[in-house]
Amino acid sequence: MKLFDVYPLYDVEPVKAYDSTVIDKNGVEYLDLYGGHAVISIGHAHPHYVKRVQEQVAQIGFYSNAVHNGLQTQLATKLGTLSGFEDYQLFLCNSGAEANENALKLASFYTKKSRVIAFDNGFHGRTSAAVAATDNPAINAPLNQQQAVTFLPLNDVAQLESELAKGDVCAVIIEPIQGVGGLDEGTTEFFKALEQLCKQYKAMLILDEVQSGFGRTGLFFGHQHHGITPDIISIAKGMGNGFPVGGVMIAPHIEPSYGMLGTTFGGNHLACVATLAVLEVLEAENLIDNARLTGAYFQEQANQLPGVQKIKGRGLMLGIEFGEEVGALRKKLIYDAHIFTGGAKNKNVLRILPPLTIGKPEIDQFINALSTILVAENV
Ligand SMILES: Cc1ncc(COP(=O)(O)O)c(C=O)c1O
Repeated sequence: MKLFDVYPLYDVEPVKAYDSTVIDKNGVEYLDLYGGHAVISIGHAHPHYVKRVQEQVAQIGFYSNAVHNGLQTQLATKLGTLSGFEDYQLFLCNSGAEANENALKLASFYTKKSRVIAFDNGFHGRTSAAVAATDNPAINAPLNQQQAVTFLPLNDVAQLESELAKGDVCAVIIEPIQGVGGLDEGTTEFFKALEQLCKQYKAMLILDEVQSGFGRTGLFFGHQHHGITPDIISIAKGMGNGFPVGGVMIAPHIEPSYGMLGTTFGGNHLACVATLAVLEVLEAENLIDNARLTGAYFQEQANQLPGVQKIKGRGLMLGIEFGEEVGALRKKLIYDAHIFTGGAKNKNVLRILPPLTIGKPEIDQFINALSTILVAENV
């Protein structure tokens, strides 16, 4: 059987990794400023994470959600404490799209309404309602286009209010900082207005923290930079440091009932332990502070590079915007400088999503390499 060929691939095959270093099958070492798409939060093969997962798999790796699993409760408690959402409820699933799918479904159950408001250039995953709320017609099949979704520009409060006032909106879904789109974000005034208007028109405010959560922006959640409180928060990516796990954090006013949501694999023992290990390392190594400080250092250094138009993002969720497309630059960074970076829907943006463990030496290595390429190209 052949693989279903949906991914354009770089010609690199990683076989080993530690912290922010990835080693390919020829023994070449790469600096990982991409984290496998914002997934590696505490560094590859972190010893504490390896130990916790190894010990758990030797005990019990999986049983169904028909029986008690104390690890789920431990995880909910720890996540509540570290994120500041002690009174929220946790539903565990397996990916970012699934987290958003459940978040949207929950909003619809709760409000008994069905239209969704999403934002231009937003990305929420590739499944049913999540892809319908994603601003990319190329990945929406006719099946997905049946969902009622209205896309609005960021920061336009008047349009937002006129849509919400129609009274049929179950949820507004928004990324605190757009990831795949290219690092644009709403203003604090906009997020505050969004929170207030959702309350006024009884729509659920869903913050998609799949990419920005778990410390990446320098606070536990990206929306915390704006001082707002969502009804529902979706999480995944950095949560499991590579173990496939996602979740939905749900405000206390949304009450559960048996069968409302469900999954076979969600919340399995290995996923819980992987996530607990991530939280333990984030806390013990002060990685959220490191994301903020190292991110600030990155911004200072990157601002001095030739050809840079703008540095976007916060913490270690960053984008460097150039006046032209960055595809060729990314290839040079991988093949010549041995540094992984990311691209975006905005083709002029080079994305930086490293493990939250990186420090100044890795940033300096990147800045020197990028500067050499840019100077050689006379940018
Ligand atoms: C903000 C956001 N939401 C949802 C998703 C989908 O997550 P997954 O690929 O785990 O389904 C992504 C993936 O890039 C994302 O960036």
